[in-house]
Amino acid sequence: MTKTLFTPIRIGDVTLQNRIAMAPMTRNRSPGAVPNDLNALYYGQRGTAGLVITEGVTPDAGGRGYIDIPGLYDAAQVAGWRKVAGAVHAKGGKVFVQLMHTGRISHPDFLDGGTPVAPSAVAARGDIFTKTGPKPMPVPRALDASEIPAVIATYGRAATLAVEAGLDGVEIHGANGYLPSQFLSTNANLRTDEWGGSVENRVRFLLGAVRAAAEAIGPGRVGVRVSPGSTFNDIADTDPEATLTAIANALRGQGLAYLHLVGGAYGYDAAGIARRIFDGPVILNGGYDAARSEADLAAGRADLIAFGSSFLANPDLPERLRTGAALNAPDATTFYGGDARGYTDYPTLAEVDAAAE
Ligand SMILES: Cc1cc2nc3c(=O)[nH]c(=O)nc-3n(C[C@H](O)[C@H](O)[C@H](O)COP(=O)(O)O)c2cc1C
Repeated sequence: MTKTLFTPIRIGDVTLQNRIAMAPMTRNRSPGAVPNDLNALYYGQRGTAGLVITEGVTPDAGGRGYIDIPGLYDAAQVAGWRKVAGAVHAKGGKVFVQLMHTGRISHPDFLDGGTPVAPSAVAARGDIFTKTGPKPMPVPRALDASEIPAVIATYGRAATLAVEAGLDGVEIHGANGYLPSQFLSTNANLRTDEWGGSVENRVRFLLGAVRAAAEAIGPGRVGVRVSPGSTFNDIADTDPEATLTAIANALRGQGLAYLHLVGGAYGYDAAGIARRIFDGPVILNGGYDAARSEADLAAGRADLIAFGSSFLANPDLPERLRTGAALNAPDATTFYGGDARGYTDYPTLAEVDAAAE
């Protein structure tokens, strides 16, 4: 096996020690929306990745959507992220923060009683977990066209703060049914102005967020994650292939750090479209092991592979992939919220060996 996974690669302005990325994963362990020492320990444990992509992080107080997720809009948060950056850098890894405005996937409980905003006043079906239990997601308030530039600008401000905190870049979360993905969709976006309707119009918000971040910190520190075809968070798109094609065309030629596809069976060759049209590094994700990673890297389908639940459960995942060692199994009951258990206490190989002696 050629082990391309373990060769360095340059993405945009950043050189990575290997082609293994930690996929973004919300863990709901930052009370007060401020990254803390436990969060820094968790990310630092996983810093042997080439690229750590953090959990979804709120770029603005108006974009909050889940319990105890961290933000990046004030000085305390910058100080918290500085600790995360230091912990990852100490292991040789680079770290991008995933900027996630949740849009309609929210509740007034997260917004001081305010109504979540979205492209259109269409509620997502389903409940959201709040501090007082699951509650139906409310009908969001449709953003007025005059308000949209200010929402887009929050991505630029958060990107500036990311670099101030010593982080290496940002990933714009355009996937999984959050605000940019709501704009991209044909069921959550019913607008008839320049932000809705044609695919070019539906891509405009995502592109605006990417440009705001790129203008703030340079395109080589900005990556983009999309999932066209995913129905997660009650999203639907009548022609996801056309949407991804439009996104890849809109993002090419800008010197961006990468395009990252969420894995999934979307019924078309999403990875092939990304590769053919986008002119920067491509990250693929979803159920990868070492053999499949090497095969996709060798075939030129991807430049990096992102690992989610396996990285969550294996702080030393790169070492285990390199040596073919067995993996710890992730415990889904401790994914979202809680303390060190199921977060920073998954053993490394060395710890497993020591326990066996
Ligand atoms: C606990 C958990 C939290 C997640 N949170 C996020 C998130 O904040 N942002 C995001 O883009 N994807 C999120 N995902 C999706 C992962 O990034 C990834 O796409 C998914 O786990 C599939 O990859 P895997 O098969 O390697 O686990 C999350 C996944 C898990 C398991």
